Amino acid sequence: MKLFLDSADIEEIKNGAMLGVISGVTTNPSLAAKAGVGGVEAYKLAIQEIASIVDGPISIEVISDDPDDMILEGRDYATWIDNPWVKLPSSAAGFQAMKALSMEGIQINQTLCFSVNQALLGAQAGATAVSPFVGRLDDIGEDGMALVRDIADVFKIQEIKTKVLAASIRGPKHCLDAARAGAHIATMPLNVLKQMAKHPLTDIGIQKFNEDWEKARKG
Ligand code: E4P
Repeated sequence: MKLFLDSADIEEIKNGAMLGVISGVTTNPSLAAKAGVGGVEAYKLAIQEIASIVDGPISIEVISDDPDDMILEGRDYATWIDNPWVKLPSSAAGFQAMKALSMEGIQINQTLCFSVNQALLGAQAGATAVSPFVGRLDDIGEDGMALVRDIADVFKIQEIKTKVLAASIRGPKHCLDAARAGAHIATMPLNVLKQMAKHPLTDIGIQKFNEDWEKARKG
């Protein structure tokens, strides 16, 4: 399972990319706003800077609700960087835009997916990846990881090539469970990536090795 960063914050992305384990980035309008990115020109500059830091697909989300406007936005985004994934919602308008843009060879990240049926529609419309939102389903008392598992199972049975991208990841356990559920990619905030790297016994072990080495060196 590949790991993506879910952020539009340049410092966070630089920080996460330093680990050498990040294969892509997902952004959305809320993440852009949180990072102080306002307006299309600022979004474009931020996306171009992100693409210079991370070598992999960078998801750029459309703002419009109308399918024709989504298509125009998607075509524009596709010129911004070498490896764009245009993020389109799991709505009727979104599926219409997905079909048009995927037919033009543009890569699509189907976002805001909350059901297997939506995932099936996205796959038919040519989505490169579908993003089930785990945390947001958990938040309303549903089982977000069950959706990741169901989509992965159905795609396997149906031999669908669309990748399962576990999104709205809230902690390291979500990430581990997404891998177990068969997700091809998980996108996570920097704090989750850092928690994945951390174990108290590793820290204690490093400290002990260093102390023993120093003791032996000093004789
Ligand atoms: C995915 O591409 C989304 O940007 C993201 O995972 C949404 O997560 P949230 O539910 O924490 O906002």
